[in-house]
Parts: sequence; structure tokens; C-alpha cells
Amino acid sequence: MTGFSNYFSTEAVPGALPIGRNSPQHVPFGLYAEQLSATAFTAPRAENRRSWLYRLRPTAGHGRFAMLPGFDRLSAAPSALEPASPNRLRWDPLPMPEDKTDFLDGMISYAANGHVADGVGMAVHLYACNCSMQRIFMSADGELLIVPQQGTLRIVTEFGIVEAPPLHIAVIPRGVRFRIEVAGPSRGYVCENYGSLFRVPDLGPIGSNGLANMRDFETPTAWFEDQDEPVELIQKFQGRFWSTTLDHSPFDVVAWHGNLAPYRYDLTRFNTINTVSYDHPDPSIFTVLTSPTDTPGTANVDFVIFPPRWMVAEDTFRPPWFHRNVMSEFMGLIHGQYDAKEGGFAPGGASLHNQMSSHGPDRASYERAVAAPLAPHKIENTLAFMFESRAVIRPTAWAMETPTLQSNYDDCWSRFQKAVLPA
Ligand SMILES: [Fe+2]
Repeated sequence: MTGFSNYFSTEAVPGALPIGRNSPQHVPFGLYAEQLSATAFTAPRAENRRSWLYRLRPTAGHGRFAMLPGFDRLSAAPSALEPASPNRLRWDPLPMPEDKTDFLDGMISYAANGHVADGVGMAVHLYACNCSMQRIFMSADGELLIVPQQGTLRIVTEFGIVEAPPLHIAVIPRGVRFRIEVAGPSRGYVCENYGSLFRVPDLGPIGSNGLANMRDFETPTAWFEDQDEPVELIQKFQGRFWSTTLDHSPFDVVAWHGNLAPYRYDLTRFNTINTVSYDHPDPSIFTVLTSPTDTPGTANVDFVIFPPRWMVAEDTFRPPWFHRNVMSEFMGLIHGQYDAKEGGFAPGGASLHNQMSSHGPDRASYERAVAAPLAPHKIENTLAFMFESRAVIRPTAWAMETPTLQSNYDDCWSRFQKAVLPA
């Protein structure tokens, strides 16, 4: 278990990993060699991400996929999206399902942007589920950044097993087959990234340490199951769902090596950096992962957290200030209370502040902050996060019609006292 930017070699059976060649004429034990690429073959070496998998059977051994009805609540940009809304939007948490619902059936698209066919943009899905998947899923549309809010996810993948409790994230690369097992009611958020792969941001003047440290990204060791029972494989392709039946478990990778793999990260290990004098930096100082674009510093999507931290700034309004941004922000709350909202933004809930919409602290948070004595004080027991994107985030019809959409969100910014100028 080491950093995801490292190069990994792992084998579940000693001697399974070929040495010196990726695809020898005779792979040990008659395993099949298969390369999985997440970047173009000719991507610069520093950007190039691929792994070699050595498995009991090649993944090519499957029948025809048939389009699967019944996934109308999951979609992809730009189809099935509502007109983008300039309104500030906020949702109560997804209720837990009463019937048996697995991760796939429990996932609902809230918003998306860009264009899945062009590899630009992202989608935001929320999930609420209560039973383990008996089928297998893969998204050909993007890598999946999963943010559990309640319940530990046991994610069985071709590369091994990733356990992701709340306060962790898990990232599943595009195309990787997986099954999610849960022990009870589970809820959380998913960012499906159509664009360039998530990476840790450059640190600039911060130096060589800080924010998410590379050593804390954990990648599974090889694990496989040798099962010849039929199992359904569902793939998401251009926002539609397709199904085929395999005659064996696809989790049959006995060894693998490369620099592409699922990984997890414990958000409590984030090295939070902030002001020790006055004001506070832009929230980009809390970026965990970024999917960059061709425009330097302008992300396809950033994953940003608002972690526990000491507040020590002098002569400063300490909560997030009022702002309007060119970037668009989809927020979630894992636990506790976000320091810009006194109420209404519940763990498991969500909000969307699109390009140039005015937002910031609600009136109660503002009044408390301007009255507070500015002694050093620690924000604790909270973790909010944001998927922030260069492109306007368009909600789905479901997200605009669900009763969990709050009708009175604008009210939290009403009735601010007018400033009084000297007579
Ligand atoms: Fe904001």
C-alpha cells in the first residue's frame, strides 16, 4: 500500500507476475496478459497511466451487450439535463430506501456538465443503498470518485479490494469492473469524471509537502476469486446502461503491475494549510485532487474539502466570505456543520451554486462571525466538500423535481441589515 503515483507490482500467487517482459510468450501458469490504459498510448511519460493485468481468462471473453432499461435516474451530460439554473439550489439528504437496493439501483444523477463523448466535464450522482451488489459494474464514461457519507463500502475490483468508510474517498478508474458490498444502510456521493485523471495539485510556493501527501494514497494488493458461476456485468456507456452475462467472475486478476489502479485516501490525513496572519486564502487551498484541463489552473473538476482546522486570523471575517465565481460549485456534507451555514445543509444533503450566483454565509452565520471574539478557535467534527468545475453544472430533471429540493433556500440570505453610512 503506497502512493498512487508510484509504480506498483503485486501478485496474489507467488511467481504469477512475469519478470522482464509485459507480455511473454508463456505467462506463468498460463495466465492471460492484458493492458488497461487510462491515457493515450502516446501521452507524455509523466502523464501516462496504464497497468498490465495477468488473469485466469481475458476480459474479451463475453457475449453481446444489450441495452438495459430501468436506469432512467442515472444520466450523462449533455442528454437529459434541465436548462441550467442560475438559482442557488439545495437538497435535503436522500432518504434511505425501504426495499432492498444495491449501490447501482440506489444511485441517482443530480447534475452534470461538459460532454461525455468528448471526455470533458463530469456528473454528480448521490447514492443510498442497503444491500450488496450481486452483479458487477463498470463505467466506460469516466473514473468514479466515491465519497461515502454513511456506511463503509467494500469495493471488490479487478485490482483487489478497497475498503472505504466515511471520511475516506475511493477512486475507481474508468473501465475497471467492480462490485460494492455494504453491511447496512449506506449513503454518499459520486463524481464521475469524464476528463483527465484526478491527480494531486501542484504545490507551488507551499513546497514539497502538504495538502494530500502522496504517501497516504492507498492502492490494493492483487486479490482474485476463481468462480465459474454466471454473473451479470453492467456497463455504463455514453450515459446508457448495457448488460451481458459472464460465465465466470471477472475478479480473476492474479497479479498486476503498473501505475493505474483504484485507490483510497483517508481525508483525516489531509495536511490543512491556512492563514496565520489575516484574511483567509481562497478555498483552493483545500484541494485534495484536481482534474486539469488544457487551460492552466482552470480545472475540469476539483475535489476540495473543508476539514477541521484552527482559526487564528486576526481582524478577519473567518467563515467563507460572500462571493461570486466563474467556477461552479456542487457541495456535500459528510458530517457536522459547515461553517457558512447555521442550518439547512444537513449531512448527506447537497447544494449547487452555479457560475456567478451570489452566495456565502447565511445571515445567522454572518451575525455570529462579526460578533465573535477573535481568539484562536478550532473548527472540529465537520467535513464538507465541493466538486468545483470550470463549466456550468446542469441539474437533472429528477434533481429539479424531487421533494428534497428546498424551496426556501434563498431565504437564508434575506433580511441582512443595511449598512449605515455616517450622517
Ligand atoms: Fe462558494
